[in-house]
Amino acid sequence: MKRVLLIEDLPQVAQHLQSMLAREQEVEVAGVQSQADQAIAQVSTEKPDVVLIDALLQGKVTGFDIAKRIRSASPGTRVVIVTVPQRPVDPRPDEGIDAVFVLPGGANELAVALGVGGKAATRVRGKMIAVYSPKGGSGKTMLSVNLACVLRRRGHAVALMDGVMQFGSVRHVLQVPPNTRSIVDLPTGQAMRTSLSEILWEGPSGVAVLLGPPRPEEAELMQPPDIATAMQLLAENHDYVIVDCPSRLADDTLAILDAANLILLVVTYMAASVNNARAAIDTFEALGYKGAKPILLVVNQADTAAGMSKGGLEHALNLPVVAEIPTDWKTVSESLNKQQPFVLAQQNTPIAKAMDAFANGLVTQQRK
Ligand SMILES: Nc1ncnc2c1ncn2[C@@H]1O[C@H](COP(=O)(O)OP(=O)(O)OP(=O)(O)O)[C@@H](O)[C@H]1O
Ligand SMILES: [Mg+2]
Repeated sequence: MKRVLLIEDLPQVAQHLQSMLAREQEVEVAGVQSQADQAIAQVSTEKPDVVLIDALLQGKVTGFDIAKRIRSASPGTRVVIVTVPQRPVDPRPDEGIDAVFVLPGGANELAVALGVGGKAATRVRGKMIAVYSPKGGSGKTMLSVNLACVLRRRGHAVALMDGVMQFGSVRHVLQVPPNTRSIVDLPTGQAMRTSLSEILWEGPSGVAVLLGPPRPEEAELMQPPDIATAMQLLAENHDYVIVDCPSRLADDTLAILDAANLILLVVTYMAASVNNARAAIDTFEALGYKGAKPILLVVNQADTAAGMSKGGLEHALNLPVVAEIPTDWKTVSESLNKQQPFVLAQQNTPIAKAMDAFANGLVTQQRK
C-alpha cells in the first residue's frame, strides 16, 4: 500500500483526483490539504510515500515551492506535480519533481506517475463521443439516438450507450424488447470484454445499443470505472461510440467525460443554458480537457434565438458550434412515441436534414 497525500485547493479537482486514487488498488489516500503550511507539516510528521501537488495552486506559495520544501522535509517521498496540457511541466528530481500527471489523464497515466502497477491499455479503435449538457431536457437523448443512426446509415460501425444509470431513456425511445439485457448484466473489470457482445442489442439499422439499468435501484450497482471500461471496449469494435450522459457532474458523468475523445455540449439560445454551459466549460478547463479533447457546441432548438446568434454564442463560450438543430415538436414527439428515430422514419424533414449536416460536420472534424 502506498500512502498518498493530495495537495489541491480546487474542490472539484480534489474530488476527481480522490476518486481516481480510490480506484487504485495499491493506494491509500493519507489526506487532502489545500494550504501549503499544513501540507508540509503533515508530510514532515507522516512521511507519505507519494504527494500529488497541483502546479496551479492559488496563493503566495506555488506548487513548485512546495515540491522543493517537501524534498528537504521528507526526501523519501515521491513528488508528483499535477498540471494541465496548457501548462507543461517536466520532471526535475533535483527540483523535487519526480513525475508529472497531466489532467485529464487516465488511470494508466496516474499509476505510472504514482509508481504503482497500472492496468494494460485497451486497444481503442473508434471515437468515444459524450453527448453532455448541464441542463436536463435539453435534447441529449434525442440527439444521441439520431446521431448514432445517421452515422450508421453512412456506413460506420456505431455503438450507442445509455450513460444515464438511473432513469435512462434510450430504452424508452427505441423498440427494445422486454427483458433485453443491460449494462448491469456485465461482469466488472476486464472480464467485461468476453460478455459485452452478448449484452448488446441490435437497434435500428444495426446500431449496437448498450442499455442502462432497467430499474432505478440498480444504478448503484454500476461503478464509474466500469462505465468507462464499457465505453472503451465498445470503441475496440466500433468507429463511433455515442454516449448519452446524465446532466449532473458526479463521478459517473466524469468517468464518461474523462474517457471520451470528444464532448458535444448541448445548449440552447437561452441565458440559463449558456450560463450553465459556461460553468461546465470552466470545470472542463480545471480538469484539463481543454487542449486534450475537442469540445463542440450543439445548439438545439436553434430557431428560438431570442436575441442570440451563433457567432455571439461561439464568442461567449469560446468554442465552435458544430450544429444548429431546429425545433420540430411534431416530428420529434411522434418519433419518440413511435420509438422510431426521425432520421430514419422522416428523412425529409428539416430536423432530419440538420442531423445529417451535423454528422457531416462531425466526421469532417474528426478527420482533421
Ligand atoms: N429540436 C427539438 N424539437 C422538438 N422537441 C424537442 C427537440 N429537442 C428536444 N425535444 C423534446 O424535448 C424533450 C427532452 O429531450 P431529451 O429527452 O432528448 O432531452 P435530455 O437532455 O436527454 O433530457 P434528460 O436530461 O431528461 O435526459 C423531449 O420530450 C423531446 O421531445
Ligand atoms: Mg436524456
